[in-house]
Amino acid sequence: MGQLTGQRAFITGGASGIGAEMARRFTKEGATVVVADVNDTLGNQVAAEVGGEYVHLDVTSAKAWEEQYEIDNNFDIVCLNAGVSTHQNVLGEPSTYPLERVDNDSYYRIMSINVDGVVFGARGIVPHMVARKSGHILVTASLAGIIPIAPDPIYGLTKHAMVGFVKSMGQALEPHGVCISALCPGFLDTPLVSPLAREFAASFSLGVMPVEVAGDLAMRALTERINGSQWVVSAGFPISRYEHKDPFLG
Ligand SMILES: NC(=O)c1ccc[n+]([C@@H]2O[C@H](COP(=O)([O-])OP(=O)(O)OC[C@H]3O[C@@H](n4cnc5c(N)ncnc54)[C@H](O)[C@@H]3O)[C@@H](O)[C@H]2O)c1
Repeated sequence: MGQLTGQRAFITGGASGIGAEMARRFTKEGATVVVADVNDTLGNQVAAEVGGEYVHLDVTSAKAWEEQYEIDNNFDIVCLNAGVSTHQNVLGEPSTYPLERVDNDSYYRIMSINVDGVVFGARGIVPHMVARKSGHILVTASLAGIIPIAPDPIYGLTKHAMVGFVKSMGQALEPHGVCISALCPGFLDTPLVSPLAREFAASFSLGVMPVEVAGDLAMRALTERINGSQWVVSAGFPISRYEHKDPFLG
C-alpha cells in the first residue's frame, strides 16, 4: 500500500519538471492524478505515463479556475506548482539583469503565473476542502522564498509572497481540518534552470539536485501535515522544516 492510496491529486504545471515528478511519485504512492498545464503535448504525455487525466488550465485565468472546480473539485491534494522565472538568468551576476530592464509584460507575466495562479487555485478549492474537513494544498514556493535571489528579485518577490500566503492561510485553515504547506527547494534539474544558471551554480558549489528530490520533498510535506509549514532542501543538505521566529513572541 502506498502512502497516498485512494487519494486524488490535482497538479498545476504538471507537464514538466517538478509537477511531472510529483505526478509520477504520487501515482507510485497509490494516488490518481490530474495533470493541469498549458502545454497540452507534454501534459497529455505525462498523464498517459501515469495513467491519469490531463486538463488544459491557464492558472492566470480566474474564470478557468472557476470552470475547473465547477466540473471537478473532488481532490485530496491540490499542488499549486506552475511557475516561471522573470528571465533565463535566475542565477548569475546581479548586474546581468537589473530591475530597470524588467518591462511591464515580463513583470505582469510572472506575477500572474506565480502569484495569481496560486491565489486563484487556493481560493476556489478551500470551500470544498473545508466542507469535507480534509485536504492538503501544496504550494511550490522556492528556497528563493526564504533567502535572497539577487539576479531575479521579482522571482524572489513572488516566492516570498507564496511563503507569506502559506503561513497566513495555515493559521486560517487549521480549525477546518485543511492543511496548506510550502515546498522551498534549491535548484532542481528541470527546464526552468538555464545552462547559464547551471554554470553559475557549479562555480559556487550550489549544485543542482535530481528532480526526484521534489517527490521526496512533497511526500515529506504531505505526511508530516503541519499547517503553514515550509519544507526546504538544497544540494548536499537533507530535507528539513524551516522554522522562522516571531520577532516579538519567539
Ligand atoms: N527547478 C528549480 O530549480 C526550482 C526550484 C525551486 C522552485 N521551483 C518552482 O517549481 C515550480 C515548477 O518549476 P519547474 O522547475 O518544474 O519548471 P518547468 O518549466 O519544468 O515547469 C513549469 C510548468 O508550468 C507550466 N506553466 C507555465 N505557465 C503556466 C500557466 N499560465 N498555466 C498553467 N501552467 C503553466 C509550464 O508549461 C511547465 O509545464 C515553479 O513554481 C518554480 O518556480 C523550481
